[in-house]
Amino acid sequence: MNEQTKVYLNGEFLPRREARISVMDRGFLFGDGVYEVIPCYSGKLFRLEHHLSRLDDSLAGIRMASPHDHAEWRSILEELVAQQPCSEQSIYLQVTRGSTGERDHAIPRGIQPTVFAMAMPFEEPDPQLAEEGVSAVTLDDIRWRLCNIKAITLLANVLVKQEARDQGAIEAILIRDGIAHEGAASNLFMVENGVITTPPKSRFLLPGITRDLVLELAQREKLPCREEAVSEQRLQQMDELWLTSSTKEVIPVTHLNDRPIGNGRPGPMFRQMAALYADYKARIKAGTRY
Ligand code: PDD
Repeated sequence: MNEQTKVYLNGEFLPRREARISVMDRGFLFGDGVYEVIPCYSGKLFRLEHHLSRLDDSLAGIRMASPHDHAEWRSILEELVAQQPCSEQSIYLQVTRGSTGERDHAIPRGIQPTVFAMAMPFEEPDPQLAEEGVSAVTLDDIRWRLCNIKAITLLANVLVKQEARDQGAIEAILIRDGIAHEGAASNLFMVENGVITTPPKSRFLLPGITRDLVLELAQREKLPCREEAVSEQRLQQMDELWLTSSTKEVIPVTHLNDRPIGNGRPGPMFRQMAALYADYKARIKAGTRY
């Protein structure tokens, strides 16, 4: 992606280097906004309706009216996709509350939101991650209590992610009151005695679009699954751990806090889910119905 790449800003498509927002934008001053990351495979926006519904929920969660309905969002994003040189992309969409020219914590009336979208080349997850697995660490969940809102205010996520990286791990699994909720930028799945388990939706985790797809694929395949809170202690005893996100898709965690999960290799249920996911994605790319 270079400075000539077209981005969308408040009704216009323009080269990224020409896109400007006010320094008084509340997104810049307060982190007052929400976002989505939407994969785009072979030019097709993946699970767009799900992402747009979550965007509506995030906007409602911060007391903002959506500036567009789903048809308008679709046409903006499809136009953005069409303007890019490659067909495999990851769309970043951000809506902030905008600017009144004043810095006041309280929400001003009659303010116009700032709508920004850009396309980044989608980097397929490295196949070695699925082959070898990754390491994660558990860390204290230092975030706020509205993690179901996909807020742009990500400083706590940035700090825990860096702490994980400093410890040689790819992701931090966040623990609040002894319970594992999700990763710094991913949802959490576990396998115990052949049952796929994921923490239930709550204010302590983002309702991931990939999470819902993995559950849907498991249910279609009649794989046993449940939504259940899991303690940090139980996490280490699991047969398998997986992380899911739009950019990572599904990856196996084979070491947690430097100790192996199961036999320290990606497990059989992971391989089954990875194959189901790849098949689903291939059908979407090919335009065949599932
Ligand atoms: N993050 N939980 C958190 C805290 C996340 O930031 C993400 C995704 C997820 C997974 O959600 P989804 O399956 O809808 O991508 C869970 C995105 C990719 C990001 O911030 O870049």
